[in-house]
Amino acid sequence: MIRKCLFPAAGYGTRFLPATKAMPKEVMPIVNKPLIEYGVEEAMAAGMNNIGIITGRGKRAIEDHFDTSYELEHQISGTSKESMLDGIRHIINNCCFSYTRQIEMKGLGHAILTGEALIGREPFGVVLADDLCEGEGDPVLAQMAKLYEKHRCSIVAIEEVPMEETNKYGVIAGNEIEEDVFMITNMVEKPDPKDAPSNLAIIGRYILTPDIFDIIRETPPGKGGEIQITDALMEQAKRNMVLAYKFKGRRFDCGSVEGFVEATNYFYEKYKA
Ligand code: UTP
Repeated sequence: MIRKCLFPAAGYGTRFLPATKAMPKEVMPIVNKPLIEYGVEEAMAAGMNNIGIITGRGKRAIEDHFDTSYELEHQISGTSKESMLDGIRHIINNCCFSYTRQIEMKGLGHAILTGEALIGREPFGVVLADDLCEGEGDPVLAQMAKLYEKHRCSIVAIEEVPMEETNKYGVIAGNEIEEDVFMITNMVEKPDPKDAPSNLAIIGRYILTPDIFDIIRETPPGKGGEIQITDALMEQAKRNMVLAYKFKGRRFDCGSVEGFVEATNYFYEKYKA
């Protein structure tokens, strides 16, 4: 059973400026719930109650969100508004949160390596909270945890994207070993459509085995001068096996304005119902 889940949340969120100038992207709400709360709910649903968050400067609101707010709670105590905190209270009472700071933003691979002290030597989940996922049946991370039990190797979540958008994602090539499960043979970070090995794009859900930390340590900066998790995973795929899983459900790219609005409309319909 995988117990721990890492949330890299140190990025600048430049696509959402000026909103993200003083506010972390991860606490921007979809309807009335911060993005990262959806992610933590998904981790919990997969049995991962140890939450490790990689933060950076200006991200303190994340820690405050997963803590008690005595004045506020005193203020609304005994009123009908109290029930609006039921969800977050359930999370706080059932999860253990740890935080570490990424001092320099050297890329997602580097952010994950920064989490080594929180994870230790066990397999773990990774959630990029700005990819908001709605699983069909089980939540997406739970689908992946189930697959991990069978194969015991690193797994990345993928989805088909329009070919002209491959330059926004890590893109894989692989052999389908069972329905929707691919053994990765190649991975390229943000390829031009003409160089992309497929239109199967990696989205922000991973299960990683702990040897990934040693591999990231040896991974030189790649695309954009950043230490890319895609490069480290490609190395892991060569040494061992890495799977790509076409998850059941849908994903909203809430790091982009369009995806954020789409998610807001979708979850507002559910909120109203
Ligand atoms: P993004 O590519 O979405 O970067 O990173 P970003 O900085 O958050 O957003 P834009 O592109 O400037 O708008 C993917 C994930 O990796 C984390 C981010 O917080 C995000 O969850 N990340 C990225 C880090 O934690 N550290 C880094 O050095 C880079």
